Amino acid sequence: MKMKDDVLILAIESSCDETAASVVKNGREVLSNVIYSQIALHTEYGGVVPEIASRKHIEKINQVIEQALKDASVTLQDITAIAVTYGPGLVGALLVGVSAAKAISFATGIPLVGVHHIEGHISANYIENKDLEPPFVCLVASGGHSHLVVVKDYGEYEIIGRTRDDAAGEAFDKVARAIGLGYPGGPKIDKLSKEGNPNAIEFPRARVADNAYDFSFSGLKSAVLNYLNGCQMKGEPVCQADVAASFQKAVTDVLVEHSVNAAKAYGFKKLAIAGGVASNSSLRAAFEKKCEAEGISFYHPSPVFCTDNAAMIGAAGYYDYLKGIRSDLDLNAIPNLKLGER
Ligand code: KG4
Ligand code: ZN
Repeated sequence: MKMKDDVLILAIESSCDETAASVVKNGREVLSNVIYSQIALHTEYGGVVPEIASRKHIEKINQVIEQALKDASVTLQDITAIAVTYGPGLVGALLVGVSAAKAISFATGIPLVGVHHIEGHISANYIENKDLEPPFVCLVASGGHSHLVVVKDYGEYEIIGRTRDDAAGEAFDKVARAIGLGYPGGPKIDKLSKEGNPNAIEFPRARVADNAYDFSFSGLKSAVLNYLNGCQMKGEPVCQADVAASFQKAVTDVLVEHSVNAAKAYGFKKLAIAGGVASNSSLRAAFEKKCEAEGISFYHPSPVFCTDNAAMIGAAGYYDYLKGIRSDLDLNAIPNLKLGER
């Protein structure tokens, strides 16, 4: 039921290979969350093909938006504002969501709010953790990003660490391909690791000399490839599960260590994680253990809110809306949009 003062956001997300729409009430209550995943379409190419992604978004976007309104039992007349991801992401994919949002806004006069995709991932934590408020530290680990962010206030961010090369999810995807698991690698490595020994192979934990919070995963990826080549040359069998578990442990150790060190150094007792990699079961277990030992409250979204979805854009869009942020009809897709910039 919508009360007079409720703020209902219709949120739209199409930055990569998920066509998604959601209705979010007052920033934290998800009334609907529709996700059309294109993963099966891209699997045969071993990764996301931008042209195919854009075409599929065009086919699905109206259907997904209609379903989100229907599932929430509302009509456009109930909607207070439309929030849409306008960057970063694949430009052709972003444009589909942005165009749909602008068309609805133009036709109905409902205000439009452009949202940063990473701000969405971070805000996914607000959905199920009703008590979580800034400031806190958030690790964002997805297919395209590995950022350590100080969330100073709603919509106010400082990036204190970033990856120098591959994103964490990208490393999962590349290693999965190398050991023959296919795309997307993260969930497959997560599952297979449960049967492997995380201490079987000692892979490197990279440190970046001039910033303790930066990440680097390309050396780890090369170490896995070298290990696989070495086994092949010596004619030794490869235990896929041990490689997966040992690789996953190497990534997890670094992500947990840097994030907890940052929380301690900045004096925050709250640490959150976000992005597709945040759904990794071993990463979540390691964070839970370490945060408990350090007296830090640990927050994470459910897996469905970790990977790309529109509910997280609705949560972020709500706080942007309250701040008075509005986008004009000349809102454009910005593939390399920086966090905190508009
Ligand atoms: O946030 P997301 O859906 O899209 C981007 O914004 O990039 O993240 C997708 C990434 C992929 O690289 C995928 O392999 C990874 O998240 N991922 C995982 C898991 N589930 C998805 N990585 C590790 N463990 C998982 N369970
Ligand atoms: Zn994402």
